Amino acid sequence: MANVTVYLTGSVAAYKGVEVVRGLQKKGHDVRVVMTESATKLVGPTTLAALTKHPVLTSLWDEKDPIPHIELADWTELAVVVPATANIIAKMANGIADDAASTTLLATAANKVVVPAMNSHMWAAPATQRNLATLKSDGVVIMEPASGRLAEGYSGKGRLPEPDEIVAFLTAQLTAKGPLAGRRVVITAGGTREPIDPVRFIGNRSSGKMGVALTQAAINAGAKVTLIVGQVSVPLPQSPRLEVISVETTEQLHAAVDKAFTDADALIMAAAVADYKPVNVADHKVKKSVEHNDWAIDLTETTDVLKTVAHAKKDGQVVIGFAAETHDLIANAQKKLQTKGADVIVANSVSGENGAFGNDQDQVTILAAGSDADKWPAMPKVQVAEKLIDLLDKKLKSGD
Ligand code: CTP
Repeated sequence: MANVTVYLTGSVAAYKGVEVVRGLQKKGHDVRVVMTESATKLVGPTTLAALTKHPVLTSLWDEKDPIPHIELADWTELAVVVPATANIIAKMANGIADDAASTTLLATAANKVVVPAMNSHMWAAPATQRNLATLKSDGVVIMEPASGRLAEGYSGKGRLPEPDEIVAFLTAQLTAKGPLAGRRVVITAGGTREPIDPVRFIGNRSSGKMGVALTQAAINAGAKVTLIVGQVSVPLPQSPRLEVISVETTEQLHAAVDKAFTDADALIMAAAVADYKPVNVADHKVKKSVEHNDWAIDLTETTDVLKTVAHAKKDGQVVIGFAAETHDLIANAQKKLQTKGADVIVANSVSGENGAFGNDQDQVTILAAGSDADKWPAMPKVQVAEKLIDLLDKKLKSGD
């Protein structure tokens, strides 16, 4: 586990920084805290000293040790500025060292992550954007703020992401040495849409939760992930090791998978891909009753992406597919294992209230050639995802 220094600066979101400290501790990291003077007006240093069991550095002049900031800078393996104001970002970008926080940051050689939180106009200001670009080119990782309601009462970009999202982002930073470090994994998530006319489409009920959970688990295990994503109803993870490609139709998804999988180690097809698309897509909105009383739409089959890509995979590449079934789960999923050419099929039921679509829980059965069906107990999708990434790791290692 790592030595993490959390820098709290003077944003009203400082209280969320306390949650980040706790979240990092829960993951087993040793956390020490530095606060700017403004931050101490928003959160008590005593609280953080009690939580971390370390003194909180707030000034360069109060300590018995005249250079406590150098000891702290050297101790640090990851420095996290959360929440980061426009002011600390400007100081970091320009090498200004005029208080305990900015001086210790300048003295820190460790990797740095900045999680900004500020008013949306301050965020968009050219000076802030210039400073962020400088930090990025200096190798500092920036976690983008969320959009939503700001403390000022209006909406915009600049909100601090939720503490658990920040902890997941930092965990990914710290575990780049995980079992999948150096591996490239392509994951598809969400549902595709096939247009009927400019306003209508054929879609499905996929929430994207499983694909998103798999993405986070793969990042946490150290992999570089390309997430090819259709329609999802959950926020996407953020990570410096994540590339997101948004697609709408099956054909777009196919093209993106083809390209990304060429030099990847693994593909996980968690997307709910449309099997059929309209033969003709109207270029204008089809008008009610004038053009149709009854309306039959001719459909034609789309490409089976999993089947096409899995059959063409290279030695050592691992492909995992899903089987979404409403009945005869195992028999249907076994058929998919045989026909699709995937190394593993994850079978899950999508019927009834406990079906996989949209639920946070999932009960899956793992099918792989040469092994018995392995029925996993029902568990949160996040846990299913972690176990699947473990399984992927084993498959990759056995093929090495
Ligand atoms: N899949 C795909 N391309 C398609 C349809 C499905 O790549 N055109 C992938 C899915 O991402 C999933 C697997 O194939 O990993 C199985 O999808 P599923 O919907 O369960 O099965 P289908 O192949 O569509 O067959 P059916 O609709 O008959 O169950």
